[in-house]
Amino acid sequence: MIVGVHTIEEIHHKLRQNVSSHRYTHTLGVIDAAIYLAKKYGENEEAAYMAALLHDYAKDFSKEQLEEYMRQNNLEVDEIMANAYQLIHGKVAAHIAKYEFNIYDENILNAIEYHTTGRRKMSKLEKIIYLADFIELGRNYIGVEELRMIAEKDLDAAVLQAINNTISYVLSMGGLLHTNTVEARNSLLYRDKQH
Ligand SMILES: [Fe+2]
Ligand SMILES: [Fe+2]
Repeated sequence: MIVGVHTIEEIHHKLRQNVSSHRYTHTLGVIDAAIYLAKKYGENEEAAYMAALLHDYAKDFSKEQLEEYMRQNNLEVDEIMANAYQLIHGKVAAHIAKYEFNIYDENILNAIEYHTTGRRKMSKLEKIIYLADFIELGRNYIGVEELRMIAEKDLDAAVLQAINNTISYVLSMGGLLHTNTVEARNSLLYRDKQH
């Protein structure tokens, strides 16, 4: 597959220069999970591959690197992200995907950008990347097996469960909860009510 002027191999190569081997292994797991979910739920597999490949491109950037990147590229973040810098890597990765790797598919870019928070009315691809991040085979935490089981049956229910897990975790850590995450949860619950 060729993306813009970059081959997939070149993107892998650049990714490996920017993330730890642990993160790269995680990324390969997210690719596998995302393609699996794309097949199961009828999403474009190449889009799932690309979004998964790039979702954590900026995850191992330091706080200073992220801030520098934001400054240089006139990227703005809301007040919550400004105070929870670990959420920013999605936005930076989406920008890199577009301007360094010439990916212009908004759905792929949004799946990369919003994988850290979710948001209301997520697209199928956004849901797949959000969920794949939590169920890839390298993940090992209490509740992951249950989440994998739900992911076999119902994409929305699994995303909702992953969001609930995240919210519980953030609260237990006393962290900042992004409003996008609350809105993602609410919009999935509204949808349930409409059925
Ligand atoms: Fe991430
Ligand atoms: Fe990730």
